[in-house]
Amino acid sequence: MRFLATCNPGTEDVVAREIVEEVDSAKVEEVGEYRGRIVFRSSGEPWLVAEQIYGLRSIHSASLLLAEAEVSPGREGLEEVWRAAYKSGAHLHIPYGATFAVRGERIGEGHSYTSVEIASTVGDAVQRAAEESLGWRPMVRLNSPQVVLHAEVDIFTFRLGVLLTGERSRHRRRYRVYDHPAALKASLAYVMLRLAGARDGDTILDPMCGGGTVAVEAALLFETSRVYCVDLNPRHTRGARLNAESARVGGRVEVYTWDARMLHELLGEDSVDRIVSNPPYGIRLGDPVDVRILYREFMPSAARVLRSGGRAAIITAETKALVAAARSSGLRMAGARRVRHGDLWVDIVVLEKP
Ligand SMILES: C[S@@+](CC[C@H](N)C(=O)[O-])C[C@H]1O[C@@H](n2cnc3c(N)ncnc32)[C@H](O)[C@@H]1O
Repeated sequence: MRFLATCNPGTEDVVAREIVEEVDSAKVEEVGEYRGRIVFRSSGEPWLVAEQIYGLRSIHSASLLLAEAEVSPGREGLEEVWRAAYKSGAHLHIPYGATFAVRGERIGEGHSYTSVEIASTVGDAVQRAAEESLGWRPMVRLNSPQVVLHAEVDIFTFRLGVLLTGERSRHRRRYRVYDHPAALKASLAYVMLRLAGARDGDTILDPMCGGGTVAVEAALLFETSRVYCVDLNPRHTRGARLNAESARVGGRVEVYTWDARMLHELLGEDSVDRIVSNPPYGIRLGDPVDVRILYREFMPSAARVLRSGGRAAIITAETKALVAAARSSGLRMAGARRVRHGDLWVDIVVLEKP
């Protein structure tokens, strides 16, 4: 069986690693770099593989892949899409009497058709295939369909699959009862923990935790880790507590209403192994100049609480300012990568204390 996983653009390699580690006999075949796409194969027991895919923390969706074909960017591309969808066997995945919908997506530029046209072309081909080979016509229902097909044209490649993970993106965790206005996607929190090299047993800190996404993900991932969750705003720390309790890790996430510029006074010197955080970007919240000042004032304290060899992964739209503040606090840059967060391209910067 082949599968298509979608994820946050820029995180594909980390997602591919999670797939290989967590899904029985998984082999990654294609990685759509910066397009948030991974195609993989597994020969494991279908029910077990489905359960393992459902447990992945870095993906946004997964589909059972039924067709993959090269298509043209011109209008003739729609006929090629129709033919590939007709032959795909997708109609066999719609039980008798069930409704279905096709969700279309177009990745890249220069196509002379829209994602809505891709979806309606696939819908038509699937209905025709069902009528001709099964003698009934499945009904399209856009709201709450019983079967959802995912159809995309990724530059010149058409892919069609049956959505396995439901329409709600997997980064929207069920445990989130408090929504911070600038919340991080939980899938990105997972990726940042991995990039920081976090392991079970590490002491992990998010010094500007908002609704606690990073802290909750860390506690869910690492059963024996001590997790600190700090924010200056008591409304957010209350929310972080609620989220941690709703995720059933309330007893393992220590939440403090405190200033990230004075972490050493709260936690002591050399007390944490990993800092993973999403400070204000300055684009969504407030003024970029203020954010630079915040970085300058927060970094020295972050460097003091970090143990030697410890790492920090910080997501930022102000990379230069962050790196300058980190360097002058004695941290060295261990890596950086561009990822998409909402409509922004931002960097995850990895820092290390020598
Ligand atoms: C982008 S939000 C974090 C969102 C969080 N990752 C989530 O998923 O909910 C940044 C947070 O930094 C906090 N913050 C700003 N300055 C701070 C400071 N000096 N000390 C502690 N927290 C601070 C804000 O209150 C805000 O909640």
